Amino acid sequence: MKASLLGRNHDAELAAFCCCPEGAPGWQQEVETFLRTAVFRRADYVVGLWDGGQLVGVSGFNPITIKGLPVASPIDLPGWDLIVIGVSLDQQQNGHGKTILAETLKIMAQTDPTRTLVSARAHRENHVSIYVCAEAGIEALPPPDGDYIRLIGGVPGTAVPNWL
Ligand SMILES: CC(C)(COP(=O)(O)OP(=O)(O)OC[C@H]1O[C@@H](n2cnc3c(N)ncnc32)[C@H](O)[C@@H]1OP(=O)(O)O)[C@@H](O)C(=O)NCCC(=O)NCCS
Repeated sequence: MKASLLGRNHDAELAAFCCCPEGAPGWQQEVETFLRTAVFRRADYVVGLWDGGQLVGVSGFNPITIKGLPVASPIDLPGWDLIVIGVSLDQQQNGHGKTILAETLKIMAQTDPTRTLVSARAHRENHVSIYVCAEAGIEALPPPDGDYIRLIGGVPGTAVPNWL
């Protein structure tokens, strides 16, 4: 299993990548659409997880300024927006979700160690995604924004603020 940043030379594998079953609830279809239209075209960084020659997982992230934290006395902090993670439909529930997230966090730390926080958004019914993020220390930050929950965590290997 190997993770790496993907350039345009992997567009064909990304186009064939699918992580959502047909007929799934609307919010799951939204994840797939989001993966295609937002991440593959707009994310500054796209990570691929490879098992031999097969692309089994992807993630996308952008640099952002994280605002509103700590809640008691907010400051602007350099961080990352983890736009999405996805595991190929035929490879889910094999631990790859945890692996792509762990590898993505490592790549974030290597790319810019001054960015110590990671922010993400998950649909409140996306229990697997919320669980996988929590296992990596990226946890829900109330209140919810409609059907979506804001998640926040530290990037391991960087100077994560001690209030997190
Ligand atoms: C979310 C996603 C990336 C997870 O990948 P995965 O390879 O299936 O995840 P893993 O196998 O690493 O881990 C799944 C964990 O969730 C747990 N899990 C399964 N169903 C669950 C549920 N309903 N509620 C909570 N946890 C659940 C599993 O037990 C497992 O944990 P364990 O290893 O501690 O037993 C994958 O399901 C996916 O691509 N989904 C579609 C895209 C998506 O929703 N992306 C996130 C939105 S940004």
